[in-house]
Amino acid sequence: MSCFSVTGGKKLSGEVTIQGAKNSVLPILAATLLCRGQCILENCPRLRDVEASIRILQSMGCLARWQEDALVVDTAQMSEPVIPDELMREMRSSAIFLGAMLARCGEAELSYPGGCELGPRPIDLHINGLRQLGADIEENGGRLRCCSSHLTGCDIVLSIPSVGATENLMLAACGAEGTTRIFNAAREPEIVELQAFLQLCGGEISGAGSDCVVIRGGKQLHGCTHRIRADRIVTATYLCGCAAAGGEIFLRGTREADLAAVVTVLRDTGCRIQSGTDGLSCQRNGRLRAVSPVRTAPYPGFPTDAQSVLMAALLCAEGTTVFEENIFENRYRHVAELRRMGGDIHVLGRVAVVNGVSRLHGAGVESTDLRGGAALCVAGLAAEGCTQVGGIHHICRGYANLPGDLQALGADIIWQHE
Ligand code: EPZ
Repeated sequence: MSCFSVTGGKKLSGEVTIQGAKNSVLPILAATLLCRGQCILENCPRLRDVEASIRILQSMGCLARWQEDALVVDTAQMSEPVIPDELMREMRSSAIFLGAMLARCGEAELSYPGGCELGPRPIDLHINGLRQLGADIEENGGRLRCCSSHLTGCDIVLSIPSVGATENLMLAACGAEGTTRIFNAAREPEIVELQAFLQLCGGEISGAGSDCVVIRGGKQLHGCTHRIRADRIVTATYLCGCAAAGGEIFLRGTREADLAAVVTVLRDTGCRIQSGTDGLSCQRNGRLRAVSPVRTAPYPGFPTDAQSVLMAALLCAEGTTVFEENIFENRYRHVAELRRMGGDIHVLGRVAVVNGVSRLHGAGVESTDLRGGAALCVAGLAAEGCTQVGGIHHICRGYANLPGDLQALGADIIWQHE
């Protein structure tokens, strides 16, 4: 079985350019359905989830091809707005195609999305918002049949600032007559990037990054060339890698502003993080300090996607850190694997208490999901001996080349193929 083999105890040193952001490119790939003309996405990461989105586009008759690190998409030949079950099950973001399909074709057929098992992940906010825009949505045997002769702009208030629901409704509203305002919208950098992409395609949209996004719909969008920004969660992962192993690294092409909450916590642990024009440097000498409770929250709060990698880094910190996971109900599945490596972690519902230990040891561990798998690699960097991380298909969903990047940062990690 393929696995990543990490030999720990070696300080990091070196630099790497951060890949394009998974959670930016996935909604943008759905948005290409709204565009007449070619969309060229530069710095597009080669990920399992991106390949899954390409298969969805191709299953609807669209063209998508790689041109070095750019993905060229042309949806002119789109045929039926139908996504087969097996493609929907591959990832959660397949749901984001719904708004764009309705805006483009006035109809869509798909099933409930799959993706990481982080607890219940309903799409009720997506469906309620689309119904408010005038879509008829019927569910039959797990399949959703949606049609809208005429989407009409309106005010939508989200009960939770859901990233996916905000993105889906932004895309649907581009095809609606009149103005849509999304209140309590998600404010993540990925929402700001989706707005930037739609504006480049001629869309009239504003307010992304605030809690109210305004879309003036009904305009035909055209193609564009857009550069995908650096992945803030990959950045957080490598910063936590440096915190865990010690040493000094430079992460090129990334910005502190996108992950300020993570940088603040890492500085509190004793890491020295400096922002430059073209990236972030991180230095860690001496033992990490435990920090005050880390509570995950919607942006600009502490991102749930960085919870597991930070926990892995703090396993050997001086003192006790308390984590509170407020976004997903079941996002501590990595804990049992970290305990195999000597981590002292107690979980009670949404709270995890991490008592720092003096040393970790290598072990055979299994990834449970994308970020949980990355956390096992981070812990492996600090552990004595060798850690074999299995289930790497989870990790490859969001990291284009985690072993290669960590090798560039001086880590002793190899990708052991079958
Ligand atoms: C996005 O997921 C990200 N995925 C996730 O990253 C990230 O963890 C999450 O936002 C939160 O930041 C992508 O962007 C592709 P939500 P999404 O809708 O859109 C509840 C990673 O590791 N909710 O903001 O699915 C939901 O159950 C992934 O890269 C409803 O109840 O997240 C959750 O508890 C994992 N009804 C909360 O809201 C809805 O209709 C936040 O979910 C929608 C969401």
